[in-house]
Amino acid sequence: MKHLLSLEKLPRADFETILRDAKTFKQTRGAHKTQPLAGQTWALMFSKSSTRTRVSFEVGIRELGGSPMFLNANDIQLGRGEPIKDTARVIGRMAHGAIIRTYAQSDVETFAEFSKIPTINALTDDEHPCQVLTDIFTFEEMRGSIAGKVVTFIGDGACNMPVSWIFAAAKLGFELRIAAPKAFQPAPEILHRAGGNIVVTEDLHAAASGADMFYTDVWVSMGKEAEAAERIKVLGGYQINAKLLKLAKPDALVMHCLPAYRGKEIDEETFEAHADTIFTEAENRLHTQKAILNWAVA
Ligand code: CP
Ligand code: NVA
Repeated sequence: MKHLLSLEKLPRADFETILRDAKTFKQTRGAHKTQPLAGQTWALMFSKSSTRTRVSFEVGIRELGGSPMFLNANDIQLGRGEPIKDTARVIGRMAHGAIIRTYAQSDVETFAEFSKIPTINALTDDEHPCQVLTDIFTFEEMRGSIAGKVVTFIGDGACNMPVSWIFAAAKLGFELRIAAPKAFQPAPEILHRAGGNIVVTEDLHAAASGADMFYTDVWVSMGKEAEAAERIKVLGGYQINAKLLKLAKPDALVMHCLPAYRGKEIDEETFEAHADTIFTEAENRLHTQKAILNWAVA
């Protein structure tokens, strides 16, 4: 039984399988040779908003021969307090797999344990593994192997996106620099667990210098809305903009998991100048989700 709950636990060989298959699924869209989800129903259980993750999984499941079943967590009894382990035991007896977007990482782990069906983390407060697999696929599609390259994350260095980047960096051998104010830096314990070549700094210029890619994410993640004013104040300046980009390699890529807030984590000019990369990255969610689903049922 395979689950994708965290990139920390994904073996390097499985990273490679997913990245290779994403390329094949992209090239063969509309003419896939196999339907690995034929006859299957996959539950998407979401407690937070989503555009890209929901659409890419729903379309991807259909294109692999399966049926998606979207469950807004507030519409099912979970939202009224039914325990996650009971919900898991019900869904696990009917559906063939589950894709979960929620708050606590422990909820996806409990779901996987009790449902006994393949379970995919579609974003928790701790990680967003599907997004980072897509980002690496997109980088490699445009620039070749990410091994040995420099990826600079700018912004909220303590949220789910940088954590998944940290685990990927250690596995795939690229340098990760995280530029963030002290209060928004990743926990030292995570860096220690991951290993790898990871620099965490408040110094934006040092982090940006010679980078192969700039990456950012919202300053106010889902669930953190009450802290919005404080976050915008403290994170102010940790922005991807044309001036900072001059310090990167001349052909540096700019990526954003989206949704983007112009004037906050990225300026309008830089976002639009790199929109083709950013929306290819968004499209690649579809191809990568298919590779993840195919891996999960193999
Ligand atoms: N990047 C991402 O996961 O987007 P959604 O929140 O729209 O799914
Ligand atoms: N860190 C963001 C990612 C959105 C895809 C959030 O959790 O809201």
